[in-house]
Amino acid sequence: MSFLRNTWYVALWSQDLEAGKLVSRTFLNEPIVMFRREDGSPAAIADACAHRFAPLSMGKIVHGDRVRCPYHALEFDGSGACVHNPHGNGRIPPAMKVRSYPLHEKHSLIWIWMGDKEADPALIPDFRLLDPDSGRLVSKRDWILMEASWELITDNLLDLSHTAVVHEGILGSEHTIKANLTIEQKGTTVFVGRSVPNVPAPGLYDLLYKRDGGQVDLWADMRWDVPGCMINDTGVTEPGAPRAEGTGFFGMHFLTPETEKTTYYLFAAVRQNPRSWGEPLDTEIQRQVSDLRRIAFQEQDQGIIRAQQNVMHTAPYPLKYCLLEIDVGPVRYKRIMDGLVRQEQEELQAGTGRAA
Ligand code: FES
Ligand SMILES: [Fe+2]
Repeated sequence: MSFLRNTWYVALWSQDLEAGKLVSRTFLNEPIVMFRREDGSPAAIADACAHRFAPLSMGKIVHGDRVRCPYHALEFDGSGACVHNPHGNGRIPPAMKVRSYPLHEKHSLIWIWMGDKEADPALIPDFRLLDPDSGRLVSKRDWILMEASWELITDNLLDLSHTAVVHEGILGSEHTIKANLTIEQKGTTVFVGRSVPNVPAPGLYDLLYKRDGGQVDLWADMRWDVPGCMINDTGVTEPGAPRAEGTGFFGMHFLTPETEKTTYYLFAAVRQNPRSWGEPLDTEIQRQVSDLRRIAFQEQDQGIIRAQQNVMHTAPYPLKYCLLEIDVGPVRYKRIMDGLVRQEQEELQAGTGRAA
């Protein structure tokens, strides 16, 4: 499947683009270098010099706003224009420029637009819970480069039944495998609800709630937005009690393909109805939430998805999924993405779109 290009992908957490530093990433197979201009605004240009293709990310920032190529010292600005040639008469050939990519900084994230249509910041989904001034307790803003395709990771996140198996003890248990599922779609946003009544609180939830291993009602409601932006509203409460009386967190998940087989996975947890145990326990709980989630994603999810991907790419026979009820979320988002990619491809072929 081709990548959707005319959409906002998450490039980085804002905190990971430090002033004066060049950060290289590959998005949708394209090498890109990002940096902050003197005024702090982020810029992204192709990470291949227009002269002889040396990676600009190996160069350095000069005069505040320019990237100097590490090979023959041409200088490029954030728009991709070559603005200085130190050789000969200094003339700059018209073709001496590199592609630039629109960026927009919002919700403590830097978003990147990979297509050629107009990049409208209004299309960025709402993640205001992550705003630095949201007043919320946000866990570490973390990321992993996953050895798995964005599609397999999305399938994983929109079918949280796996938490009972893959994350047994942390996010689920044998008691949480059977759940009530709901699915809803508004425009291109998909909501997949999952609830399990009256079960022993799984490890992470017990840590946040009563720390007594008691019975709870558990919920995990995932919102998915194009192309790979998710919020999981999840928590536990007394059996039969309103959710507002319980506690939990919003799990934020952002997926941006590096290649067909690898994906940048950014995540953070934002507490909802936090219970205070006083210090130093509150800080310790916050640290444990960050650590446990990283273990869950990096070791447990990546372990199974990477192995799954390996089977899929090496099988000597054609493969076709045999689906279950639990696949309603994955089926729905895939239909939306397939439709958008097809439309983009058709526009391109008809010459009406400008997608690369
Ligand atoms: S390769 Fe960049 S200046 Fe020559
Ligand atoms: Fe998982």
